[in-house]
Amino acid sequence: MDTTTAVIDLDLPGPRISRHVYGHFAEHLGRCIYGGFYVGEDADVPHVRGIRLDVVEALRELAIPNLRWPGGCFADDYHWRDGIGPRDERPRMVNSHWGDVVEDNAFGTHEFMDLCELLGAEAYVAGNVGSGTVAEMSEWIEYLTRADDSPMAALRRANGRDEPWKVPFFGVGNEAWGCGGNLRVEQFASLARQYSTYVRDHAGNEVYRIAAGASDGDLHWTEVLMQSFGPLDGPADAAAPAAPFQGISLHYYTFTGTWQDKGSATGFTEDEWYLALQKASFMEHLLTRHGQVMDRYDPARRVGLVVDEWGTWWNVEPGTNPGFLYQQNTLRDALVASVHLDAFHRHADRVVMANIAQTVNVLQAMLLTDPDTGALVRTPSFHVFAMNRPHHDADSLAVHLRDVPEREVDGDALPLVSASASVKGDAACVSLTNLDADAARTVVLDLRGRDVVGHAATVLTAAATSSHNTPDDPAAVAPAPLDSVRAHERGLEVTLPAHSYVTVTLTLG
Ligand code: AHR
Repeated sequence: MDTTTAVIDLDLPGPRISRHVYGHFAEHLGRCIYGGFYVGEDADVPHVRGIRLDVVEALRELAIPNLRWPGGCFADDYHWRDGIGPRDERPRMVNSHWGDVVEDNAFGTHEFMDLCELLGAEAYVAGNVGSGTVAEMSEWIEYLTRADDSPMAALRRANGRDEPWKVPFFGVGNEAWGCGGNLRVEQFASLARQYSTYVRDHAGNEVYRIAAGASDGDLHWTEVLMQSFGPLDGPADAAAPAAPFQGISLHYYTFTGTWQDKGSATGFTEDEWYLALQKASFMEHLLTRHGQVMDRYDPARRVGLVVDEWGTWWNVEPGTNPGFLYQQNTLRDALVASVHLDAFHRHADRVVMANIAQTVNVLQAMLLTDPDTGALVRTPSFHVFAMNRPHHDADSLAVHLRDVPEREVDGDALPLVSASASVKGDAACVSLTNLDADAARTVVLDLRGRDVVGHAATVLTAAATSSHNTPDDPAAVAPAPLDSVRAHERGLEVTLPAHSYVTVTLTLG
């Protein structure tokens, strides 16, 4: 078998990988909030104030750093005052984007902040630019974070919460080029500056404002938003710009078909396996190209790129509501995730946050819950996030790959090994994905610069590329110790099974 070499200088730490690239997203969409996170106070399933306990416990295993809410497209229809006060007095609305169902606003600001506290996650609140007012956005951040007896702080107290919350992240609009208002970028850039100005820092709460950014390869959108900052060419150690916003977003979804027929989550050919992984690898290209545009205006990299929607988007499971975006999650989804996360690690100098869509029961979820029995299943993607915990807030390490096999996909060469690495104190973690559907691959880890005094490896693979977890077989795809790691004159040698994701953790001397 041919061998791939991965050269890693353990003593040359690069930019820090923010734990926030392991962020999640929860929209009022299908069974993500209702039936996923929130079951209500009368539910039989164990809950805390209506929030499902087993969901919280499972997600705590991932150390979720931040949670984005309430959308998505829903955010630009959402009026936060509808979701406060006694539940039986809250007005109803139509969720016109997702299933055209009636939303009763039972899950609102207090419930979301309660959920964040239970998860130990920081709040990323997405504000409404598309159909909301500047005053509404301004009052929401005041309601959430103000300590004194201001009108909004008093209203919050009247609704049962004395202490202000911390809200470190605030989204200014979502997909403004589409569901968030169908705006032209020049128009949105002005609105983003205006709205952001009124998302004020209250009571020591410092907000990182994120303006709705581009879709896929729309570099013009990024360019105009960057121009809207004005000069940003100060010294590298200057403080982040105080106004109008600190980050811009990027959305990119992986699917193999068209928007009308995206492909099946579980019934795919070998060609579609490779096509999905090629589409996932495209994230590397997108980060490079959007990063180059940002570098032209912001060479010191003070403006963050926030990939606040990413992941697979397949056809819904047969028999489910097309507007609810409920899909299965296979080993293929897990490898789509590991390939994206490698790209985020490699671009740690620009990518400050990312949010996979969407945590429970929607798109590339971490958890699926059975609507009839209530059974909870951890998906293969969940396990990648769990295996990657050592990368949170670790310093990135460059991985120089040699002799990587490739496969031609749609006229392009797809490298069949993806890798990234990080170091934190005396521990390092190497991520290795074998994209080859059929063949195992041996990788020599050429480890330089520090002594390696111990190692352990974990593998995520399964009998078939389409294997997935169900209530009857919840561990069809589950991590296991990998014993194919051997000493090598250059460091270590590890055999990656076909279609697998492996982490090797190193103890450094
Ligand atoms: O994640 C589902 C939807 O995808 C979001 O609501 C929207 O922002 C994007 O188009």
